[in-house]
Amino acid sequence: MLIIGHRGAAGVRPENTLAGIEHAIECGVDWVEIDVREHREDLIVIHDDSYDRTTNGAGKIHDLTPLQRAALDAGDGERIPTLAEVVTLTTGRCGLNVELKDPGIVERVVALLDQHRALLKPAPCLSSFEQENLREIAKIGPDYPVGILGKDVAIIDNLIGELDAYSVNYSKTQVTSLRVEQAHQRGLRVFVYTVNDEQAYRRCEHLGVDGIFTDYPQAAINFFSRSG
Ligand code: G3P
Ligand code: CA
Repeated sequence: MLIIGHRGAAGVRPENTLAGIEHAIECGVDWVEIDVREHREDLIVIHDDSYDRTTNGAGKIHDLTPLQRAALDAGDGERIPTLAEVVTLTTGRCGLNVELKDPGIVERVVALLDQHRALLKPAPCLSSFEQENLREIAKIGPDYPVGILGKDVAIIDNLIGELDAYSVNYSKTQVTSLRVEQAHQRGLRVFVYTVNDEQAYRRCEHLGVDGIFTDYPQAAINFFSRSG
């Protein structure tokens, strides 16, 4: 079972921070998942389109200057990292799933990852709920494996038929035995989010999924190393 630290290690460290990612790596995750948005000249790692929930600031991302953003506390004194900082921290240590939250940022994300590409092994998997982003990845960054996400299964089914993807990333409510079977028949890996307790671990194991996103990397690693 591939263990993916969700937003770093969101259950035990501030989400989408370098401290959270470092913790996930030290636990021994295979990959970490992060959420990326654009802020003027920068690509930053933050889930929401505002600072309200995850920092001591407030307002929409673009309400602040980069300097003001850089001064915010994202929890435990952590700053909002840039994608470049996360790439530097993770290179050679674990895989990366970059979820592109904003539409229209594929070119910028691919350009940044390309700068580090020689050392990025495996190539980071790129995913997005924005369908156009997924189509753009196939055109602009065909080197990068695509992870399909969708708000509903009809959208996901269409994308599975349309794209030459690497994985389909289902929520716990979307994933079923039949969907796992059909994805595997197409050569797709199946990853499930967000899997945080033993009942959910067991269900994923029973369904035969290939990986889980978890907020609690150590607990998941302990469970799956025990279960073999
Ligand atoms: O990529 C899996 C998962 O992270 C998608 O949902 O809302 O946690 O970004 P969310
Ligand atoms: Ca995410």
